[in-house]
Amino acid sequence: MPGCKGISHRALVLAALADGRSELSGLAPGADVARTRSALGALGVAVTDSDSHDVVVVDGRGLNGLIAPGTVIECGNSGTTMRFFAGLLAGRPFAGVLDGDSSLRSRPMARVIEPLRALGADISGSDGGTRAPLTVRGGRLIGTRVELAVASGQVKTALTLAGLQAGGVTEIVEPAPSRDHTERMLDALGGPVERVDSTTLRVRAGAISSFELEIPGDPSSAAFFVVAATVVLGSSIVIEGVALNPGRIAYLDVLRAMGASITTTPRGERLGEPVGDIAVEAAPLHGTEIVSREAIVDELPVLAVAAAFAEGITTISDARELAVKESDRIATVGELLGGLGVGAETQADGLVVRGGRPSAGRFDSHGDHRIAMTAAIAAAAATGTSTVGDWDVVSVSYPDFAQDLARLQGER
Ligand code: S3P
Repeated sequence: MPGCKGISHRALVLAALADGRSELSGLAPGADVARTRSALGALGVAVTDSDSHDVVVVDGRGLNGLIAPGTVIECGNSGTTMRFFAGLLAGRPFAGVLDGDSSLRSRPMARVIEPLRALGADISGSDGGTRAPLTVRGGRLIGTRVELAVASGQVKTALTLAGLQAGGVTEIVEPAPSRDHTERMLDALGGPVERVDSTTLRVRAGAISSFELEIPGDPSSAAFFVVAATVVLGSSIVIEGVALNPGRIAYLDVLRAMGASITTTPRGERLGEPVGDIAVEAAPLHGTEIVSREAIVDELPVLAVAAAFAEGITTISDARELAVKESDRIATVGELLGGLGVGAETQADGLVVRGGRPSAGRFDSHGDHRIAMTAAIAAAAATGTSTVGDWDVVSVSYPDFAQDLARLQGER
């Protein structure tokens, strides 16, 4: 798998804030992580490809070494870059403007702006201060207890980056646990974080040590092949060196509950992140009830494809967040399932999928990388030839996806 996107964004940012040189290998390819890399460049941090294969060197400047960006920081399609940098810039003694593409400009930003304001941040945005472009006028932050309105790994990290610069203690409370890569990494580096319980994190101001990290494989990218191997008769695959963070692999339990044959083998830990292999054999699936948590939001589109190949009905509920991702994924997944000739009903907080005999169709990514790859998995498993429009958007997270899928199909 390509390197984990979530861990790559965080490793770059924390390495930039550390004092001294860090080395990262296996950084996620794709436009999103490249946005974080160039955003750091705009703040004066040198991130360079080393001579040795696949290693990126980050010359950390410490928080105080960052410089004012000379231009607008362009985040493209990357919500992670925009939300992380809102928190990072909030405590610096200069201003910065964060902008994005039309998808990112339409995504909700109040969820990150409001809790940052509680620390004293000065952030304005368009549409009544709720959307990008965002103008962050950095200044002194004061730690306090903030209760987040949504469980979000991006927002929690933004607050953590602000908390690292604030006076006193910043206590971040979430309505449900979100992905915890940032605090795992900071903890492993001896950083000033304290995990009070699964939904409460305390952060203090403090320095970060430089580090070396081999980024584990991306569990959300692995999900596409886990579903493909499950539904394509006779398949058997092993995906090696994937992040097995429990907050990222809950989708495996959903598939197991549907009848999938999946085994994970732990192989060790890297900077607090469990890493290992995922082995999958094809198996007949039956419908299930999926009550979404933050932990399985990114994998829900491809789980809906698994449901399309399963016998019986699958319901996906409590998944409102799906509607505010790179596309409205309730609508785009509903359309995709319709294109497969499978009965699907969209609801305000999820979908109902009537498993059947999916057939080839014409699909469109709607500019959403995960919808493009989900459609490709459905197409690979259905009989007949399908087309996926606006395909190039896969470059956001997984530029070699088509080649990797073709390689697996060639081995059929
Ligand atoms: C991410 C968290 C999730 C996820 C996104 C990446 C992260 O979003 O959907 O792809 O790296 O923290 P939210 O923070 O909006 O839940």
